[in-house]
Amino acid sequence: MRFLLRLLGAMWIATLAVTIGFAWLELQEERRELVADLERRAALAADAVREPAERLVGRGARTGYERLLARFARADRAIAIYDDLGGLLAASADVRADLGVISPLVSEALRGTAARTMRVVLGRATWVHVVPLVWEDRSVGAAAVLLDARHLETREWSLWRRTAVRLGVLGLLLTGITFLVVRWSVTQPIARMAAWTRQIKTGKEVAPPPTADASLFGPLAQEVDSLARSLARARIAAEHEARLRLAGESVWTEERLKQFVRVRFDDRPIFVVSNREPVSHMREGRAVRSVRPASGLVTALEPVMLACGGVWVAHGSGGADRDVGARIGLPEGDPQYTLRRVWLDAAEESGYYYGFANEGLWPLCHIVHERPQFRAEDWGHYCAVNEKFARTLLEEMESTPAPILLVQDYHFALLPQMVKRARPDARVALFWHIPWPNFEAFRICPWQHEILLGMLGADLVGFQTQFHCNNFLETVERTIEGRVDWDRFAVVRGDHTAHVLPLPISVAPEFDAPGNGPDRTRLLADLGAEVEFLGIGVDRVDYTKGLPERFRAIRRFFERWPEYRRRVVFVQLASPSRSRIPRYQALLHETEETVRQVNEALAERGWKPVVYHQRHHEHAEIQPWYLHADFCMVTSLHDGMNLVAKEFVVTQQQGDGVLILSRFAGAANDLRDALLVNPYDIDDVAGAVHRAVTMERDERRRRMRRMVSQVQEHSVYRWAAMLLAELDRMPLGVSLARE
Ligand code: G6P
Repeated sequence: MRFLLRLLGAMWIATLAVTIGFAWLELQEERRELVADLERRAALAADAVREPAERLVGRGARTGYERLLARFARADRAIAIYDDLGGLLAASADVRADLGVISPLVSEALRGTAARTMRVVLGRATWVHVVPLVWEDRSVGAAAVLLDARHLETREWSLWRRTAVRLGVLGLLLTGITFLVVRWSVTQPIARMAAWTRQIKTGKEVAPPPTADASLFGPLAQEVDSLARSLARARIAAEHEARLRLAGESVWTEERLKQFVRVRFDDRPIFVVSNREPVSHMREGRAVRSVRPASGLVTALEPVMLACGGVWVAHGSGGADRDVGARIGLPEGDPQYTLRRVWLDAAEESGYYYGFANEGLWPLCHIVHERPQFRAEDWGHYCAVNEKFARTLLEEMESTPAPILLVQDYHFALLPQMVKRARPDARVALFWHIPWPNFEAFRICPWQHEILLGMLGADLVGFQTQFHCNNFLETVERTIEGRVDWDRFAVVRGDHTAHVLPLPISVAPEFDAPGNGPDRTRLLADLGAEVEFLGIGVDRVDYTKGLPERFRAIRRFFERWPEYRRRVVFVQLASPSRSRIPRYQALLHETEETVRQVNEALAERGWKPVVYHQRHHEHAEIQPWYLHADFCMVTSLHDGMNLVAKEFVVTQQQGDGVLILSRFAGAANDLRDALLVNPYDIDDVAGAVHRAVTMERDERRRRMRRMVSQVQEHSVYRWAAMLLAELDRMPLGVSLARE
């Protein structure tokens, strides 16, 4: 209320000052015009009176004045005639009694100059104009014209009255409008925000109210929003902890990981390096949009960074990244860690990322019978980019004693050695997210020695499965000098030991996208079919994912069990990937073509077996599909882990969906209750789809419940904790001899 009064007071004072100021100016102007009019009329009258008056006074006439007065005087105009001594010879009767006030003007006229001014005569405003009377070149007297000027005052008063009315109306309007605007734009939004924060305090999950005016309340709403989110996160973590304590389980949560890092590492920041950044910025018209890339690595690492904080160094690959900045806090609006972007030019990106990493190492490590391409030029860029990232990391870690560095994936095989040489006090782990092939497959790589030596610079090398660890140690044993300690699973070279460990990566125990998506009926209605069963696939379009094979298996399912036509629909969310590489372009075409063929062969009016959405999908868009699917197909030909399988499971916490999972995905080791298939065997996969749609509800429930427990107990928080605990155990101060 006080704010409103202050605002209104200020507005009233301003209005008053402006209105009165303008009224005064208007008055002056009008007065000037009226006086000029009086002056003109008085001068004309004086001119008219002068001649006959000069004749009478000059000749010394005793009579004739009455006629003169009768001729020129009117109700609003009085006349007075004086002799050369200022004596009154004649005057209109109505002013005669108060002519003393004009004597000074008469004297001035007798001295030869006409005089005019405003005077009060008989209590009335009067314009007086006195002219000299000259007869035969001699001043013989004066003639005065007195004009009634009372209308000047009348006009003045009416102007002030008008001004007062104007002021009143304006004041009322201003008060009303201000009151409404303040109510709509200030009082109500603040009241809504207050109600929202009150609800949050009581623990309810409520969406923030719409911000009435972003320019006024945007920053405040953002702050409150981020505060509320932190609160909600803390509450969920606390509730989770409490539940676990009650259940006596030892599950890793975000909060527990935070505490662990605090205690073990004294809250030191954690450094992560990966090629893919957790958020890319893209330009959309004039606006800049944040995009979360389709990458299992990002899915896994982001919750860890949110829990531990620190610096994540990655390639700034988004079109608008440079406009947003090289060093930004994430998540935007509620920063928990820092993203440090490294810029690569087109040649570097093409040689290091598209070339050596994705046309060389990727097919080398995935056994999908895709021939790796090794080009010396690409290798040169790969080495140079590893150096570039190492320099950035060293710069970031400069002021941190004994920093912890988690190097991610096959893009940075050389980086552990580079960093460790410059910072022997750093604890470096390299986690290889993709499979490690057997020695026979690996030894075709022309730079196998350099790659292994680079990797062994780490204190800890992690793989997704024991099998990949075995392959790696065997490769090391048969490729380079050094002692492989099979008992401790380590490689000892000089005074440096690199430990090799299986650490199956995972996801956060809760799918973090807000759950306000469409329900099952809505999802199915949007597909335009009255189907009973919904199948879902979520993949990057990559030849390791076995997409064409999957669609062929779906076709086989409908051919073998035609009674399921129109009753089952399979939705594939396919995110185009690495599409500058010709093999990936060919795959995009092959995948679309396979979907087209399957649909052409089987589609009936109002139903088609496969709905194919080929574009980037945000997390929040994927969640409803996971949630309402009856089965999810993860049929990779080869995969390090595959986190789509685990995301599906955590989303189905209350559900009974069936997971059809490739035996050749690392996830198959962890999710034994999935229907495990050989993705190359079309009949096997078709049979699994049939099993998924015919399985009893109880069995589906039991299987899913076991898989949910598995993922929750082996979440990415546990993965990070194990990795960090292992690193913590490593002896410090080892130095690497130059190779
Ligand atoms: C795999 C790799 C990740 C990579 C992801 C997406 O999961 O292990 O390192 O980020 O694929 O591929 P992209 O080339 O788009 O980053």
